[in-house]
Amino acid sequence: MVKTGFNIGKLFFKNPVLTASGTCGYGQELKDFLPPEKLGGIILKGMTNEPREGNPYPRMAETPSGMLNSVGLQNKGFDYFEKYIYPQIKSFDTNIIININGNTIEDYVELASKVTTLEKIPAIELNISCPNVKMGGMAFGTNPDTARKVISAVRKVYPHVLIVKLSPNVTSIEEFAKIAEDNGADSISLINTFLGMSIDVKRMRPSLATVTGGLSGPAIKPLALRMVWQAAKSVKIPVIGIGGIMNAFDALEFIMAGATAIQVGTALFIDPQAPLKIIHGIEQFLLEKGITDYSNLIGCINK
Ligand code: FUM
Repeated sequence: MVKTGFNIGKLFFKNPVLTASGTCGYGQELKDFLPPEKLGGIILKGMTNEPREGNPYPRMAETPSGMLNSVGLQNKGFDYFEKYIYPQIKSFDTNIIININGNTIEDYVELASKVTTLEKIPAIELNISCPNVKMGGMAFGTNPDTARKVISAVRKVYPHVLIVKLSPNVTSIEEFAKIAEDNGADSISLINTFLGMSIDVKRMRPSLATVTGGLSGPAIKPLALRMVWQAAKSVKIPVIGIGGIMNAFDALEFIMAGATAIQVGTALFIDPQAPLKIIHGIEQFLLEKGITDYSNLIGCINK
């Protein structure tokens, strides 16, 4: 048995494979395909204080080696989650992490404070990178000043592990990685989706009702990998790599570039068991290479 556990702050992760927000609901859906306790963690679908209807349909479109989405953070809000969903998932023996969103800094702060009351949620992923909402989201995460303000405001009220999810739609990912670190983040996760669009030529209309949406999947992997590598070199806090990871070799690329952990997202729509295969593939690779200390793999191309 090889060990791939690690810590972010005081929080232990049994392995480096997490599921990405918005790709497996609240985790219950996964139970038909894999035991949740096998995962390093589950990042829940983006949550807001108040319920949200989300964006008009169509909200998803397939593109070459990728997928565009414009869900618009549809969710039933914190109170519904606390009453109806949390009781169903709180016994999962893995790290359940809430992805929090808001229109204003006050919204983010209020939601982060409410989450502290949930004993079995050991961390939040602060989403300042959703490209599909007019207020909050990417608007916060692509402006250094608002990024600073929202991260530090949430840090003041949130005592547990704070992961900040970064947008790729910036010129310098290093700048935003540093802003997160300097304002108290325990970790950064990157990347969220690239702003993209596609046109349904036969209908002579945009494929998405909102015209633009977030691009994910293998199409973005080399870009995501480059950004993870750049971010990991510029901060000391652990980096969680995201972006088109479909198999163990993709995951290993991110880890070798400097990611301590990775998130699997779009792959789940094709193969909900992909995370298990990735965990197994990483362990096999370590065994074959005779690497007994997982930390030696992290960022090995830079050593
Ligand atoms: O549209 C959405 O709900 C996407 C959220 C995100 O990319 O963070």
